[in-house]
Amino acid sequence: MAQLWGGRFTKQTDKLVYNFNASISFDQKFYRQDIRGSLAHVAMLAKQGILTEEEKNQITDGLNGILADVENGTLEITDEYEDIHSFVEANLIDRIGDVGKKLHTGRSRNDQVALDMKLYVRDEIDELDELEKKLLLVIQRIMEENTETYMPGFTHLQKAQPVTVAHHFGAYFEMFRRDRERLADIRKRMNTCPLGSGALAGTTYPLDRAYTAELLDFDRPTANSMDSVSDRDYVIELLSALSTTQMHLSRFSEEICIWNSNEYRFVELDDAYSTGSSIMPQKKNPDIAELVRGKTGRVYGALMQMLTSMKGLPLAYNKDMQEDKELTFDAIDTVKGCLALFTGMIDTMKFRSEVMEASSKNGFTNATDAADYLVMKGVPFRDAHGIIGRMVLACIDKDCALDDLTLEEFKSFSDAFEEDIYEAISMKTCVEKRNTKGAPGPVAMAEELAENKRYLEEN
Ligand code: ARG
Repeated sequence: MAQLWGGRFTKQTDKLVYNFNASISFDQKFYRQDIRGSLAHVAMLAKQGILTEEEKNQITDGLNGILADVENGTLEITDEYEDIHSFVEANLIDRIGDVGKKLHTGRSRNDQVALDMKLYVRDEIDELDELEKKLLLVIQRIMEENTETYMPGFTHLQKAQPVTVAHHFGAYFEMFRRDRERLADIRKRMNTCPLGSGALAGTTYPLDRAYTAELLDFDRPTANSMDSVSDRDYVIELLSALSTTQMHLSRFSEEICIWNSNEYRFVELDDAYSTGSSIMPQKKNPDIAELVRGKTGRVYGALMQMLTSMKGLPLAYNKDMQEDKELTFDAIDTVKGCLALFTGMIDTMKFRSEVMEASSKNGFTNATDAADYLVMKGVPFRDAHGIIGRMVLACIDKDCALDDLTLEEFKSFSDAFEEDIYEAISMKTCVEKRNTKGAPGPVAMAEELAENKRYLEEN
């Protein structure tokens, strides 16, 4: 049991208490950030004349040595230390002797852990952003290749009007783009440095907080030392953003499960991204999509846990806040894993364009266009709606699409029908005529693709 305190105690900590209180098993995840923060702190202490140059150099070398040894596996982080801060300090003292005891001058574990968590979350935001960008690049590639791949668009999971794969995927492009914008927004707001706030009330040493903030790539130091050590808003904001991302991935996964089902057969998942059954030889299951959908609960759970852990805390630091780590780390790792796998899954997925186009026709997705055709020929819209409705009913009876009726059959419903009806209700025409901004038509889609491209180049 290596701990940083004990002077005012007359007894050893109970073993169970020690274990319950310790955080090394999970806060070791940010050993890099902890050491980075200490290096900046020491550089600032020397600049301010609180440490000598010689002391700074010794401590800096010692910290860099610990970092290198942990990275190369010669130094193991074990649970004989209470937390990662104790681990680093104890190892520093082992390495460089008494001068190592000066590392914690003008610092508390409260501002230290606040810093570590911010540095960690900020690094993870950057990694998440990269993964989201990779996903957007794959979506954009699929869109570019499928501007004429017709498929039914749905409302109420009932076939509605024809769209294209490009248009359907374009909706997800928007969702993941907003996710990235949310991450950038959180990163910007959280980018203030808590180091130098001490336990809660600052310190009496002449620290230069702006200097440490700059060394650690923060925009500025935090404004209020009590808020600095007790603020975990950015963790909650990140978990909220991650919940939204995971919700998007889950909706997309649900669609892929539907499209991949034996009834739909719109897509074929790559063998490398599918799994089999131990008993049913014919099975090829979309387990990855299902797992992504299923893991959504974990991420929402982390958000609920964090909101609940924080809700009753008086200022400033309370040990409850140690609970900010485990589920947050799990949520971040979960979303990163899901993003990477999901990207690979859709990147290798094949579209069955004939099946999708046939499904659009058989689902009467061109019924609105057939009614519009009659309107163009002078029939009032309400009458046209009624005529096409009766025709759909007749087609359901005959088990055929509108396109399959002969011109004579068309005319038996309305004299206004002429030979050009076939052209007017083809999937191609139905899509090509929809060119309002944001619609699936080629003019509108070219604009959407150009805007996506511009965004991806600039962001
Ligand atoms: N392990 C603690 C945490 O994660 C570090 C801060 C400890 N501070 C304290 N006053 N006990 O929050």
